This record gives sequence, C-alpha cells and structure tokens, in this order.
Amino acid sequence: MQNPTLSVPRAPASGLMIIYGASGDLAQRKLLPALYHLARDGLLQDAFGVIGVSSKAFTEQGFREYLNETVRPHLKGGLDEASWRWLLERVSYVSLNWDDPEGFKRLAQQIREMDAHWGTDGNHVHYLATPPSRVAPLVTHLCEADILRRDPQAGKRVIIEKPFGHNLDSAIALNRRLLEGLDEGQIYRIDHYLGKETVQNLLVFRFANAIFEPIWNRRYVDHVQITVAEDLGIGHRAGYYDSAGALRDMTPNHVMQLLSLIAMEPPASFSAEAVRNAKGDVLKAIPPLTPDQVLNRTVRGQYGPGHLEDEGNVSGYREESGTAPTSTTETFAAMRLEIDNWRWAGVPFYLRTGKRMPVRQTEIMIQFKSVPSMMFRSTGVEDLTPNRLLLRIQPREAIVLSFGAKQPGPSVRIADADLEFCYRDRFGLGPSTGYETLLFDALRGDATLFQRADSIEGGWAVIEPILQVWGEMPPGEFPNYAAGTWGPEAAEQLMQRDGRQWKNRP
Ligand code: BG6
Repeated sequence: MQNPTLSVPRAPASGLMIIYGASGDLAQRKLLPALYHLARDGLLQDAFGVIGVSSKAFTEQGFREYLNETVRPHLKGGLDEASWRWLLERVSYVSLNWDDPEGFKRLAQQIREMDAHWGTDGNHVHYLATPPSRVAPLVTHLCEADILRRDPQAGKRVIIEKPFGHNLDSAIALNRRLLEGLDEGQIYRIDHYLGKETVQNLLVFRFANAIFEPIWNRRYVDHVQITVAEDLGIGHRAGYYDSAGALRDMTPNHVMQLLSLIAMEPPASFSAEAVRNAKGDVLKAIPPLTPDQVLNRTVRGQYGPGHLEDEGNVSGYREESGTAPTSTTETFAAMRLEIDNWRWAGVPFYLRTGKRMPVRQTEIMIQFKSVPSMMFRSTGVEDLTPNRLLLRIQPREAIVLSFGAKQPGPSVRIADADLEFCYRDRFGLGPSTGYETLLFDALRGDATLFQRADSIEGGWAVIEPILQVWGEMPPGEFPNYAAGTWGPEAAEQLMQRDGRQWKNRP
C-alpha cells in the first residue's frame, strides 16, 4: 500500500543553539520544550548542544537544575525522562553583562569548547529571546567578538523574535542595522504562526490539490475573512501591550502571514526564496489605504468589563493590572483590504483580531459567489449561505466545506451541509509548542518558514496608514465592546454595509 502521507523523512539536525535570554519565559515555555520534543522524536543528532546565555549568575549545574524545575511543567505528552536527560546534559551556560565585551569573549570560548566536545562543526543558531531593544546591540557585540560574521555559507544564523520594530520606519531601520553586520540569508525572523501545522498545511492544501486552484480567484470567490480571535485578555503583558495594541501586535505579522499564504500565486518551486517571493508579492499588491479609507474601512475597539463562559466576570482593559485607567490602546482591530492583482481584484479581504472575544477562533473563511440563477425557489435556497470553505487554524484544526443539500423527503427542501476534515482525527496531532519545525529548520538552514526583510516591511507598510490616522485621531468612545463579545458594533457594520456578515463560531 502507498504511504498515505506526503511527508518526506528528514535527517535529524545537528548544531549548537545559543539562547540569549535563556532564563526567561520564552525559553522555558517554548524553546526548551520544543528542543525536548525534537530530541524525543529522534530529530536531533548526538552532535547537538545548547548554550544558555543571560545576565543571571548561574553555574552550569545551577542552570541545568533551574531548567529542570522550570521547564518540566511545559513538557507535553508524557515525559520521556531519557530524552529530557539527553537534552539537559547537552546544556551549558554563560552569564554575561550585555554590554561587557569580556563576556562575549568568554562566550566565544565556550562556543569553541562546545563545538569541539559535541562535534557540532560550527553550525550555530543564535536565538535572541531578548527584549526588542536589545536585538541590534547584541548582534553588534556578537559580530565584534567574531561569534557572528557576514557569511551566508558559514552556518551562523540569528533568530529574531517579534515585535520587529513598532512601525515601518523602525522596522526598516532595524533591518538596515542588522544588515550592516550580517547577510540577509543569516537572519531568521520568526513568526510563530508559521510553525503551526495547520498554517503550513495551507501551502499543501492549495498546491498539492488540483481541484481548488481553478476556483481560487475573483471569478468564484465573493470575499475572504480572516479572524484571529482570542478569549484571553492581556495577562501580565500590559507593559508591552499598552504601547503596542492589537493592530501592531497581530496584524503586520500573524494576520499578514495568513493573508499571504491564502492569496499567493503558486511559487515556481518550494525553495525558500521562491515561496517568500510569492508571499511578498501579495503584500506589495495591497494598495495602501487613503486616510478616508482608513476611516471607512477600519474599526478599532477596546474591551470593557464583561463575562466569559469559562472565566465568569472579567475586568475591562483599563482595569487590568499595568494599564493606564484612561488608556486608548486598542484590543480589537478590523479592516477591509483589497489585493490589486489579476487573481483578486475586486475581492474584499476582511481581517479582524481581538482580545477577550467569546472564544478562541483562528480561521480563514473563503466565501464563494452565489449560484447565478435561483432554480429552486421556495425550497429554502434563499436562506442558504453560499458555499464556504473554512480553514480552521485553531482550536480543533479542520477544513470544512459547506454546501447546500436536499433534505430527505418528497418535496425539495434544501439545507446547509458540511464536509469536514478534522486534522486531529485523521492524523492524531501530537502536543507541540509550535516551535519544533521552526527550530529544526533553522538548525538545518532552511529559511522557508521565516520572514525576509521585505515581508516584514511589507506587513508594516500595509498597516502604516492605519497607524497614522489612528494615531492622529484618538478614539473617543473606548471601551466600546464588552469582554466576551465579538467586538464593537462598528465591526458588524463594516460587513453589513457590504451586505455581508462575519462568521462567528457558535
Ligand atoms: C503573540 C501576541 O504574537 O501571539 C499575543 O503577542 C497573542 O498577544 C499570541 O496572544 C497569539 O498566539 P497563539 O499562538 O496563541 O494564537
């Protein structure tokens, strides 16, 4: 029998991963657990090691003990003690003051020793899990200490977390600064949405199946909706979030990644450059909104106190710890964009993202045009929604195709019906952090799922006019939606004006 999956077995990865900010939250919750999952699944070679770097004064043994305590609770799927031990014994630690050149010399020495001990052969991934302000100075120090140098062939890569800048200008400036010391091919800008299996599946769904391509365009598609709704509030992140807001936090990165994967042309190949060129072309084809369009086609909101099914009564954004009582930061953003190319001209793309919505729902919904002539009058067909293809990223990852079907019985009655493929039922999705593929690819030098400078700047360019108009016109009416609802009324009106409706999960 033929193997029913399309997976190509990949050789385990080798190399050194140097994690800056190694005592922090990201390392504990995502990076170390992801490395453990890779180890457990046999995807790391013996020639592998980790160096944790931070300003805290741990000894090597102390750091391992710290990880053993703080990371364990985040290891998923029944702990495989041997794999965890295997990983821990490969961890070493360097404590350094971020501005002290001597510390970087010690780090260089430690890297040489680890390379020699584990046979990692100079293949290095530097993961900057540090606050954004530290990224550029850190890269400069690493270059000065010759830990990094401009050379795409040398196997020296840097992974950079979001937020990448806080607007277009700062993103351009950061790219420029990084490119002073490094080649573009060495810079891996991470967007954790690209690590999600279901996001990667968008490429397979579109380009490994012939039946969708002929209808994937303006002739058949009425509109596209992308929803990234979270029921969570801002937790303990007010410090960052209150100066970022929903628009900056989610749209130039995660939402634009989903948009470009769904709208891109078939790439010439699946090489990193071809895929990223095709995605970049989508962003370039989005005409920047004029100030008038920003007023008519975008909506912002902030949640007030409300009620969520799981959590009960919750406070409003302005009452969250760390936010200003008069904060005008938006926790919801919606917009209507267009893509001005042959495939999509005239097809609206509606995007929305928000915190404290009723449920977690990350979905792309493609609504097709209605039938050209109503043959089945008085059969209920008028009440049917047109065909819809739903790509559910999370939770309950699935693909659902909705269509009209005849209800059983002598008279012709038509009702909505769904064809559903559920990812978990079919493939048994194992627990993961979403970082596994990204770390694995970075170790192997595959940049396909990372963002190039142009895609980062392209994402910011789309939202720049919105940032400007919103910045000049502080919102008067915040809070304008209750926690546990689908956002401000204006977001409904954005759709209703076009004779459409958001698809909310029941
Ligand atoms: C992060 C944002 O990038 O993505 C958070 O900063 C958001 O505000 C998170 O909650 C959502 O990620 P996920 O994987 O839970 O959808």
